[in-house]
Amino acid sequence: MNNSAIGVFDSGVGGLTCVKELTELLPRENIVYLGDTARVPYGTRSRETIARYTHQDIEFLKRHDVKMILVACGTASSAIMYDRDFAAQHGDMKVSGVVLPAAHAACAATRNGRIGVIATSATIKSGSYGRVIHEIMPDAKVIGKACPMFVPLVENGYTSPDCPPARFFAEEYLEVMKREQVDTLILGCTHYPHLTEVISQVMGEGVTLISSGAELAKYALKTLTFDGELAEREEQGSMELYCTDSVELFSESVERFLGKSINGEVSKCSLKL
Ligand code: DGL
Repeated sequence: MNNSAIGVFDSGVGGLTCVKELTELLPRENIVYLGDTARVPYGTRSRETIARYTHQDIEFLKRHDVKMILVACGTASSAIMYDRDFAAQHGDMKVSGVVLPAAHAACAATRNGRIGVIATSATIKSGSYGRVIHEIMPDAKVIGKACPMFVPLVENGYTSPDCPPARFFAEEYLEVMKREQVDTLILGCTHYPHLTEVISQVMGEGVTLISSGAELAKYALKTLTFDGELAEREEQGSMELYCTDSVELFSESVERFLGKSINGEVSKCSLKL
């Protein structure tokens, strides 16, 4: 048993798709969430900058009595996979990103071995998903596509399948996935599950969508169970939310992303820059 919190961070609000799943799978856990809203997006930055931001996010969460840190940002998760100093700096903490759990889920789901990955430019450029998928399934064909317009669409609430810009960009970006006949598509950016409806309509029936944030939450459940570190308390876990820019704007997005009002406090914090 371990009643310390689970720390979760993202460059903004996308990681809340992981938090939503966590609150369903692990309702007794306390959660500390950091959204680095002052510096979002990470997905258009260099690997060095993303890695630096990621270290700062992790250091911030470490100061909040957490037992595990979930990197609920595809871009940050991909950057730390290539950072040689990472293990040395954070070996004292369980830190898990979205790439491994989502890649495993995709390999388990595919029937024809053709897996698509949609994510930010930095994630696709890093090749992180292909690397992990090929370790699990050497013969898999992995097709990656950066979808830079998806994050702003989600941030601004343009997610409905009837919304012309959402439909236009989904058709544009997913054309290659259809042509390559992928039967499994990883939503490698934690914002994308908000576009699930339009993405599944464009991809058609029979294509499995894998939400990387949700897979990370399932992975946390497995790890904490295996390590005997689940929280034990009568009441529901609490939620502490931090952002690095406007609390007001962040709170509005949080409620939209979680689909419910916040059961906890939202504060502004500053990261060591
Ligand atoms: N949260 C980021 C991700 O999952 C997308 C937004 C950004 O570019 O920072 O990759």
